[in-house]
Amino acid sequence: MGSRDKKKLIIATDNIGKFREIAKILEGLPLEIVPLPSPLNVEEKEESYWDNASRKAVEAALRWGEMALADDSGLEVESLGGFPGVRSKRVGETDEERIRIILRMLEGRKWEERKALFRCVIAIAMPEGRLERAEGIVRGYITYEPRGKGGFGYDPIFFIPAKGKTMAELSVEEKNEISHRGIALRKAREILGKEVRTSWKI
Ligand code: IMP
Repeated sequence: MGSRDKKKLIIATDNIGKFREIAKILEGLPLEIVPLPSPLNVEEKEESYWDNASRKAVEAALRWGEMALADDSGLEVESLGGFPGVRSKRVGETDEERIRIILRMLEGRKWEERKALFRCVIAIAMPEGRLERAEGIVRGYITYEPRGKGGFGYDPIFFIPAKGKTMAELSVEEKNEISHRGIALRKAREILGKEVRTSWKI
């Protein structure tokens, strides 16, 4: 089947790194995975991951009349009542500053009080108005200091007990295998696979 016959799936993100990561996990589906034709300019100001993700996916599906997928994610620290959560990227200006703020807030806290998780919520909008949802979480602990150079955001202070490493010390493949986004995307892949088969009645 030529790509001209395939249905399109727009990945509604302006982040090229994220686009590549998503396209890689969705590889092999009978869909043409495409980036945004032009910037979406939807502000992520909502107070839930789902509201942010679904607004972006719906806006892209409406604007271009194709299926669209968007995500929103964040870090939740248990002893901080889930902070920073949906506001993860609005804490500080840079990743270094975000990390400093979380470490300062946890100063003097013991290991057991440093439990945290990453959550990723994905919305898939169908052009006829239906929405599908996929979610993934990964649990870990906030370290006492940053470690590792990989990944982005809070990765250098997010310790994965099963790996004995921070997220920033994992390879891209290792991170995708266990990460909140990897888990949510594999669920999204199943949803999309079913969607394509159903629309072709196979
Ligand atoms: P977004 O969903 O990509 O917009 O991410 C929201 C914010 O959550 C990011 O700016 C990061 O601060 C944090 N975050 C989300 N996913 C990750 C991750 O995989 N590693 C580290 N930080 C993350």
